[in-house]
Amino acid sequence: MVTDKARIAVLVSGGGTNLQALIDAQGKVITDGEIVLVISNNRHAYALERAANAGIESVVVLKKEIGSQEAFEDAIMAKLEEHNIDFIILAGFMTILSERFTSKYENRIINVHPSLIPKFCGEGFYGLKVHEAVLAAGDVVTGATVHFVNEIPDGGQIIMQKEVEVHQGDTPEILQRRVMKQAEWIILPEAAQRLSEKLRKERA
Ligand code: GRF
Repeated sequence: MVTDKARIAVLVSGGGTNLQALIDAQGKVITDGEIVLVISNNRHAYALERAANAGIESVVVLKKEIGSQEAFEDAIMAKLEEHNIDFIILAGFMTILSERFTSKYENRIINVHPSLIPKFCGEGFYGLKVHEAVLAAGDVVTGATVHFVNEIPDGGQIIMQKEVEVHQGDTPEILQRRVMKQAEWIILPEAAQRLSEKLRKERA
């Protein structure tokens, strides 16, 4: 379908609950953008089924088949160009992108991270490790952050944050689920809409 909406690619590696939140927000929270492509670096990612169920084209790009990080990123960039992508959402994409990639899409890549940056972020803080660290620190409040992506892992400008309570007796798994439900799945679509609106206006 050809529209003047911002064309969004979502990069995934796993379950894709954030992708699902974005799909569900289309036409509701996200009115100025449309997800037109899903790229996975994992052939078995359930996110691929979510894309298929929503009728969104997807492609698998595997680093181990391609070889170097540079060639892997080139393959992703080729797909983005082929589909005239305006901006990229990293939704559980478990690879750090190089500066060559991030500088090409400056202010056009966003990521969701499951903590209140600058707490519990950067290399090594991913998945359950983030929530384990929050519990070990005894924090009573955590949350999620959507930020622009630059060459520093989790270091780009913050777009939105939302706090989530830590409860006594929480396990990392319980806390992860609460952070997703109460923060990630809400702020990621909202940030996607903000950027879609901005890019659509710039183009008009
Ligand atoms: C989320 O916690 C996200 O913040 C992090 O990886 C997880 C991905 O989950 N970057 P899903 O694949 O969206 O379900």
